[in-house]
Amino acid sequence: MCGIVGYIGQDKATPFLIEGLSKLEYRGYDSAGIAVYNGETIRVEKSLGRLEVLEQKIKGNEPEGSIGVGHTRWATHGRPSDRNSHPHTDCTGKFVVVHNGIIENFMSLKEMLIEKGHTFRSETDTEVVAHLLEEVYEEGELLEDTVRKVLNMVEGSYALVIMSEHDTGKIVCAKQDNPLVIGLGEGENFIASDIPAIIQRTRRTYILSDGEMAVVKSDSVWVYNRDGVPITKKVFEVNWDAEAAEKGGYEHFMIKEIYEQPKAIRETMSARLAKDGSGISLNELKWTKHDLADIKKIFIVACGTAYHAGVVGKYYIEKLARIPVEVDIASEFRYRSPLVDKDTLAIVISQSGETSDTLAALKEVKAMGARTLAVTNVVGSSIAREADNVLYTWAGPEIAVASTKAYTTQLIMMFMLAVYMGQLNGKVAPERAAELVEALKQVPTQIHEMLEDVEPIKTFATKYGFNEDVFFVGRSLDYAVALEGSLKLKEISYIHAEAYAAGELKHGTLALIVEGIPVIALATQEDIYDKTVNNIKEIKARDAVVIGIALEGDKNIAKYVDHTIFVPRTNSLLAPLLAVIPLQLLAYYAAITRGCDVDKPRNLAKSVTVE
Ligand code: G6P
Repeated sequence: MCGIVGYIGQDKATPFLIEGLSKLEYRGYDSAGIAVYNGETIRVEKSLGRLEVLEQKIKGNEPEGSIGVGHTRWATHGRPSDRNSHPHTDCTGKFVVVHNGIIENFMSLKEMLIEKGHTFRSETDTEVVAHLLEEVYEEGELLEDTVRKVLNMVEGSYALVIMSEHDTGKIVCAKQDNPLVIGLGEGENFIASDIPAIIQRTRRTYILSDGEMAVVKSDSVWVYNRDGVPITKKVFEVNWDAEAAEKGGYEHFMIKEIYEQPKAIRETMSARLAKDGSGISLNELKWTKHDLADIKKIFIVACGTAYHAGVVGKYYIEKLARIPVEVDIASEFRYRSPLVDKDTLAIVISQSGETSDTLAALKEVKAMGARTLAVTNVVGSSIAREADNVLYTWAGPEIAVASTKAYTTQLIMMFMLAVYMGQLNGKVAPERAAELVEALKQVPTQIHEMLEDVEPIKTFATKYGFNEDVFFVGRSLDYAVALEGSLKLKEISYIHAEAYAAGELKHGTLALIVEGIPVIALATQEDIYDKTVNNIKEIKARDAVVIGIALEGDKNIAKYVDHTIFVPRTNSLLAPLLAVIPLQLLAYYAAITRGCDVDKPRNLAKSVTVE
């Protein structure tokens, strides 16, 4: 999730590249770089840090020329550093590449290229594209033909923007699963990963679709399919203002991020699924079965939404890998003298990688001799640096304070980790692993389908108004999701909400269930379904208004609830990923109905770096 810009025309490229990148810093800001062709050679300038560091670096000596590309980075493969910043070049410096997305087969391509004598300067997946271009290039060939050959070799997702000293006067772009837009000017054209970068210059655009390539010159833009057949594109006139453009046309970052979940999940899991479909391979860990045998106990430590992902993670690890797990809120964990030793594995989960309580807990368990593993979304963050091992979620920058896509990618990561551990210690048989992976692969599409029709959820949110108290109940994994659903509602709509283990309700909280109280009852866990239904009956007997969340095809639930929201049928373990979607949407639309500031709720911060 980075930002890309490109310019080709009569003016100087550098001012537009810097201006465009400044509009994209919300997409990534750990490093930035530009490359400009001056009529003879391409000059690349890049640096770690925010865009202003790059601006200072080139001040008074800006790259000259009217063809150029730029990039602002949100690290995935390779920590933030000067070397890992884009643009990347081949050995000769004649091919220049900027890239958004993940080249999944980069390791095998890199090995092949190193064998052929290529020298790599970065740890990124992107650099393989530059060297591949050099490798397959034939004298006199058009850049688009060289690029096409390379696209046939890479697997994964990308928005690629490429220029070359071999074939100048053009920029070639290719898109797969990452946005790419061409801005149409007069005698000049613009390229960007996102519309905010170009709307100051033009509102006439071509929005590229997956599998399309474009050859952009100063006076023409040709779009082709992967086979080189020209495509007639319709001009899309952008009528968003600058602020709406940053949100991709959505009203708030939160809803944009809710809709980004299928992609974020796909990115997080794709490179970690064994190619033959046989299970999960976490190359980042390189654990052996002996490493795992030494782990007698696992602590999962986190705050807020990440803690809720940890609660789900406990179920996953205990069910699949059969290792005992305790989940703790970081601020509690530190002060309760936990029993930690060298046979303990501490997993800390943190979107930002900077949460002070989580970081402190991590340092403490490390000092006590535990092995540590971080699950985080920010490459090179304090927590990532401190832990022995890191598993990155690849959700991209999350801007709304209320976490959505970070949560679902954390669940995916915890699920994959549990399967991986189970494979290693023999608790998950190969057939079971293959079955789980099959179900996992369906999740992005299932979420996508759920997001296609949100009208019923909007109606619930407005109809019930959720004015005072709302209860969320469920058992086992449904309870874990209830915790997150209730937090979402509290933090953005300021409605008092409580999550209860449905079986525990009768031990006190049932006293609060009276006529008309909204109760969201999750019933997606088949092994405990009848018990959950019994609890729902207890609630209904008190005349509460019950909204059931159930698996598609459940014909029974309607008898006991007032309304049902169905989620696609899946493996029980994966149901939390689907069940949380309507809860995120309910919170969002309830907040809108109540006129709350959805992206910046009162009193809350995205990243809490104080104790
Ligand atoms: C803050 C945010 C929450 C987040 C929590 C943990 O409280 O408002 O949305 O879940 O911090 O953040 P982390 O970055 O460690 O996941």
